[in-house]
Amino acid sequence: MHNNIPCISASTTRRTEATPPMSLPTRLLAGRQVPIPGFGCMGISAYYAPSLKSEQHYQSVLRAAYDLGARHWDTANVYGEHGLGENERLIGRAIMELEIPREDIFLATKFGISYEDGVLRARGSPEYVRACLAQSLEALQTPYVDLYYVHRVDPDTPIEVTVNAMQQLKEEGKIRGIGLSECSAETLRKAAKVVTVDAVQVEYSLFETTPETNGLLATCKELNVPLVAYSPLGRGFLSGRFRTRADLPSIDSRLGLPRFSEENFPKNLVLVDHVNRLAQKKGCTAGQLALAWIHAQWERTIAIPGTTRVEALKENVESGKVVLSPEELTEIREVLDSFKPVGNRYDEWMTALEDQSA
Ligand SMILES: NC(=O)c1ccc[n+]([C@@H]2O[C@H](COP(=O)([O-])OP(=O)(O)OC[C@H]3O[C@@H](n4cnc5c(N)ncnc54)[C@H](OP(=O)(O)O)[C@@H]3O)[C@@H](O)[C@H]2O)c1
Repeated sequence: MHNNIPCISASTTRRTEATPPMSLPTRLLAGRQVPIPGFGCMGISAYYAPSLKSEQHYQSVLRAAYDLGARHWDTANVYGEHGLGENERLIGRAIMELEIPREDIFLATKFGISYEDGVLRARGSPEYVRACLAQSLEALQTPYVDLYYVHRVDPDTPIEVTVNAMQQLKEEGKIRGIGLSECSAETLRKAAKVVTVDAVQVEYSLFETTPETNGLLATCKELNVPLVAYSPLGRGFLSGRFRTRADLPSIDSRLGLPRFSEENFPKNLVLVDHVNRLAQKKGCTAGQLALAWIHAQWERTIAIPGTTRVEALKENVESGKVVLSPEELTEIREVLDSFKPVGNRYDEWMTALEDQSA
């Protein structure tokens, strides 16, 4: 399927006539054909040393994403270093100031991670959902979002209650799709019994294949729910540009993740070296191989790489041209079978928010 949707058609680009969007492949998500890969906006406000660049710079990256046709933008109310809504506000301002037609962007955001009085927890009560959405819509300067995710599943609120509250918001026209992030297969099944679940978002990459073994990917396939793969470049690790911890800025949060620890980092480089080797053989970059692999796993997987650089964005967008043959996929699978990532993907705080429902 190719560029057959209003959301990325040249006729709707208005201020971008000089740079028509590339013909990106698309996949169905929450009732729209969205271009793949998507664009993960988190890093422009949070975790990966965003303060090292200016808002003006980040607007230029969003502008480039728009011009290149990467118009599925993923954010969350918690992305920011200065309180809730920071990333959403930056996106909202960019859309307004760059005069990007709102309907040209497939905008996804999330709620459900709360940090108050030193306590990090998942919240999903109907009142909380509604209040968070109101804040997100204001921050994003939009009357609706295309996809609204439960960011982490609240152990104290039945998922049916949370998604029924989201269904209400959908009926009010404030959200156009319902998504679950980091849910278990069981939670997905429960939710799908009471509402249409439009997407599951989970960490899925050559560096993190747990969705293949914990039943989540299988359940997505069974229920025909698209799987949106976050951190598809292994938080940049798979691209091969970080060879030591010193390659990351000292204020970068990844330095606190177990897989990036002093001890584990060099052990995990074994995977990166394999990916680099296979990418060289294929004639693409390591990151492009990683993204192409995700899109080859199932016709409903969608990768949402994030970057703060226009050059990297172009490279990621061009991953759509990389088509892996059955032989190449087998070779990649052999590498994955021979390698187990060393260290947890999250620190203790975030690990505590994992959905425990089996
Ligand atoms: N649901 C959830 O709980 C959850 C959790 C995490 C993330 N997410 C979503 O997933 C999105 C992507 O995840 P992510 O940002 O963690 O990880 P990612 O996309 O796997 O990696 C991002 C990192 O890769 C680097 N990078 C990107 N493209 C590159 C390229 N072509 N060559 C070399 N380096 C490249 C970026 O650095 P530069 O900026 O320097 O290019 C950045 O450091 C986020 O923006 C967010 O929307 C969701």
